[in-house]
Amino acid sequence: MTKVQIAALAPVLLGFGALSSARPLSAAEARPVYLDPSAPLETRVDDLLGRMTQEEKLSLVHADSKFTTAAIPRLGIPRRWMSDGPHGVREDVGPDTWNVAGHTDDFSTCMPVLIGLAATWNTESASAYGNVIGEEARKRGKDIMLGPGVNIQRTPLGGRTSEFLGEDPFLASRMAVNYIRAVQSHGVASCVKHFAANNQETQRGSIDVEMDERTLREIYLPVFRAAVQEGGAWAVMGAYNKLRGQFCCENDYLINRVLKGEWGFQGLVMSDWGGTHDTREAVFNGLDLEMGTDPLPRAGAQRGPLAADASQSVYDRYFLAGPYRDGLKTGEFPLATLDEKVRRNLRVMIATHVFDGREAGSLNTAAHQEAARHVAEEGIVLLKNDGHALPLTADRLGSIAVIGENAVRLQAHGGDSAKIKALYEVSPLEGILRRVGATANITYSPGYRKNGGADLIDKAVAAAKAADVAIVIGGLIHERPFDCEGADRKDLSLPWGQAELIRRVVAANSRTIVVIVSGSPVEMGGWLDRVPAVVQAWYGGTEGGNALAGILFGDVNPSGKLPCTYPKIIEDTPATAVGEYPGRNGTVHYAEGLLVGYRWFDAKQIEPLFPFGHGLSYTKFDYSGLRLVAGSDPNGPPVTVEFEITNTGDRAGAEVAQLYLHQEKPSLPRPPKELRGFRKVTLNPGERKTVSIALDRHAFAFYDPARAGWVAEADDFTFQIGSSSRDIRLQGAFRLGETTVER
Ligand code: GLC
Repeated sequence: MTKVQIAALAPVLLGFGALSSARPLSAAEARPVYLDPSAPLETRVDDLLGRMTQEEKLSLVHADSKFTTAAIPRLGIPRRWMSDGPHGVREDVGPDTWNVAGHTDDFSTCMPVLIGLAATWNTESASAYGNVIGEEARKRGKDIMLGPGVNIQRTPLGGRTSEFLGEDPFLASRMAVNYIRAVQSHGVASCVKHFAANNQETQRGSIDVEMDERTLREIYLPVFRAAVQEGGAWAVMGAYNKLRGQFCCENDYLINRVLKGEWGFQGLVMSDWGGTHDTREAVFNGLDLEMGTDPLPRAGAQRGPLAADASQSVYDRYFLAGPYRDGLKTGEFPLATLDEKVRRNLRVMIATHVFDGREAGSLNTAAHQEAARHVAEEGIVLLKNDGHALPLTADRLGSIAVIGENAVRLQAHGGDSAKIKALYEVSPLEGILRRVGATANITYSPGYRKNGGADLIDKAVAAAKAADVAIVIGGLIHERPFDCEGADRKDLSLPWGQAELIRRVVAANSRTIVVIVSGSPVEMGGWLDRVPAVVQAWYGGTEGGNALAGILFGDVNPSGKLPCTYPKIIEDTPATAVGEYPGRNGTVHYAEGLLVGYRWFDAKQIEPLFPFGHGLSYTKFDYSGLRLVAGSDPNGPPVTVEFEITNTGDRAGAEVAQLYLHQEKPSLPRPPKELRGFRKVTLNPGERKTVSIALDRHAFAFYDPARAGWVAEADDFTFQIGSSSRDIRLQGAFRLGETTVER
């Protein structure tokens, strides 16, 4: 136990000593049950709850600064710290404002953005990622990390597309579960967010989302259910928006009925910052912790360990503070409502060992930086590679023209709540210089600038003409109005004249590689057919530039796959096509229903620019020997899908084999195919491996509102095994013998 813990507990231990008889208490008698790590969790919670005054209870259900709740020294409860964000531990702000605190010990490892993690399609990388978050959170003294963000990508224009895990609930669920388990393995609670249907930034604080029950259950809730039931997430953050007329942070159906009722969630529900709107709604509809409500701090407001007179604190204006106290006094709010909220807060505290001594954690270590680099490398997607334009052979290159402001732009500090004060960040240009600067003549030309500039293209074209190879590094920026919370993108275009730049550069030098650094899809129509190779590099974090160089020069064989569809034009995307984005008169109807992402493109037979699951390699893979092995155990998986993958190329590489399911005659409409499994397989040249994916009954099921459950129907099903959702290599049929309903 650290000195801090002992100091915090001293009053408790001494206090109990003072309260007891004159004779010295034995250690067992002196230590109350809630401090006993060997006691069952609920016993500890009950014991502690029973010792708390009403004011102490109230202090735990609302903030007492931007990112904390008050300490309760009498009981040895320390101040509780929350921190953003999904990509690393955010720099300290406040305590009562968004202004940075100006600390010097809050540099952290900036991991690649979460869409880049999703693009790895590697659940082990999700675990490695979560371990970094958990260890750095511990070192920075954080109790709850506000991530991962898991909202499904309904439109590629979404401002937070980079912060989430793509368009498919199955892929997002698999990645989120491992991320959460890893974070929490370090005694830090993971707060999965934003529950639910926060799929646009436009009017995010008020938009009312309307959707049918199947769409909610099959598309927008599954990641949260997996996060809670499989990942064991200890916290959930409500979304800013409304769902079906009620704010999500105070939503009876979402929180009480589904999350806590159906799914049995035992942790705490916190609001998004400023997402609480009404005391009565918050009290009765399941909000357990109010954060970020924004009464301006009153001069002289007290804060920190229970203010002498809580009503003097500006935080007493919170909905779950003074007004809650008043309602408890009049009897409008039963004390049981407060006890239930406090119980959940205490459960998370005790489950994350707040009293038991915690691991020290670690910060900015070489191991974390290596993990960041590995995830960045593994998430980079090779979109196009005609004529083996890539990888570049460093020792055969005399000169390289690196073009584009994104070659030198650092992105970690962007993204608002997802921002990181990175200890360092390797830019793409720096990565290239480190990799080949000693052997090749590298020139840099901005080509375009966020703030414009004259004759930038002419200079870039001249540089390209003079070089053996041109690498254009363009894309977006991790700021509004591009990839950042608080605003959606206006269109899919590459801003600041990049399309014209690329066209003129490739006209000057046919050996032009385009690298898109962004957190979301961009249009490529005006230049794609002229360029031999295109790479999608996400905001790669602290090691992003080194990861990109590794891919470009062949040290690393790209293995990323798109976690979202790249459309040719925005009109091809469902939310825009149905005319229900960003909504009207404060309401948005998800009229496309289940047909999100590739489901839409398949159902409408629209050719995407690049399909969901697409990603090339520097080697080739062959698929063969599909076998559908029926399950023998009536309670086990009905079928196991087996096949072989062979590396038929001349270098090692990793392939993501994807399994899609199609039901022949469903009693309710279903998308043409749905992702139901994937495996990432690493193979040496000539090596063959067997892939085996067991499918449980849930994999066959769709949600039927009439039966309030998941129905796996007796019917014929087709399995499609592919290297992407549009590159199907094997296909097989399977008959499911009986219909079952899972509640
Ligand atoms: C923000 C975000 C949320 C973040 C919170 C605290 O507005 O919506 O993701 O964790 O506020 O910064």
